[in-house]
Amino acid sequence: MKDVLVLQSTHSTNQDAFKLAKEGATHGFSVIAATQTGGRGRLGKAWQSIPGQGLYCSIIIRPNLEPSDYPKITLVAGLAVAQALEHLTQLSFQLKWPNDVYCRGKKCCGILAESSSLSNSQSDHFAVVGVGININTDMDEFNPELRDTATSLFIESERKYQVEDVFKKVRKSVLSLLNEFERTGFEGLLSQWKKKDLLKGEWLEWVTHSGEIIYGESLGPDDSGQLLVRDALGVTHEVISGDVSLATRQS
Ligand code: BTN
Repeated sequence: MKDVLVLQSTHSTNQDAFKLAKEGATHGFSVIAATQTGGRGRLGKAWQSIPGQGLYCSIIIRPNLEPSDYPKITLVAGLAVAQALEHLTQLSFQLKWPNDVYCRGKKCCGILAESSSLSNSQSDHFAVVGVGININTDMDEFNPELRDTATSLFIESERKYQVEDVFKKVRKSVLSLLNEFERTGFEGLLSQWKKKDLLKGEWLEWVTHSGEIIYGESLGPDDSGQLLVRDALGVTHEVISGDVSLATRQS
C-alpha cells in the first residue's frame, strides 16, 4: 500500500504517526499495526488491541483549516468512519459525542484525534486521526469489563472482514469528508452528524474539570463542535472536555 507504514506490533500508532508527522510525513500518510501494546483512547483510557482482530491505524492530516476548526475534526472523522462501516456492513451506526461509533447500543469504534501545537505557523499544523475498530472480535475475547458495552462488526453482522479492506475504506472516507469540510465548511457535516446522534434528548451526567457533576438533557453539538447540555433549571452548559454518560433524570 502506498503512503502506509505497516507494522506487526507497536506501542501506539498515534504515537508513531505523530513522530512521522513532526519529521515531515505528508497529508494522508498512515500507520497501521496488527496489534498495539499501549493503544490509548481519550482521557487516558487504554484501547484493547487484540492481535489481528481489529483495525488500529492513525492517519496524518494537514488540513487547510483554522485552529478553531481543529476540535471539529474528531466529529468529521467519526461521521466518515460510520459512513464507511455502513457501506461495508449494511448495518446502521450511531455517534456518541465526541468520538465513539456505536452499533445497536454498543461501542465498536473509538477515534482519538490529536493535533500539533496550533501556535506554530499554519503550514506546520497537523493532526493525527487514530481509529480503533473491533472487526472480527468474538465477545469472549474482550476484556471482561468491556463485555457489556463493546461490540464488533463480526458480532453484529455475523461476517468476518479483511482488516486491510476496512482500513482502505475508512481512510478514503476520512480523507474525503475532511476535504469536504475544507471546501464547504462544517454546517452540512454537522447536520449529518446530528442524524446519527446517540445521545440526542438523553439525560446525561457530566463531570467538569473542577469535579462538579452536571446533569442535563443533551441538545447535541453546537456549530463549534462542543456538546450542549441543558440542566433542570434551563441553564445550557457547553461541555468542553471530560466524559459524558447516561444518567437517571433529575427533577
Ligand atoms: C477512544 O475510544 O477514546 C479512542 C480510541 C482510539 C484507539 C485508536 S487505535 C489506533 C490509534 N492508536 C492509539 O493509540 N489510539 C488510536
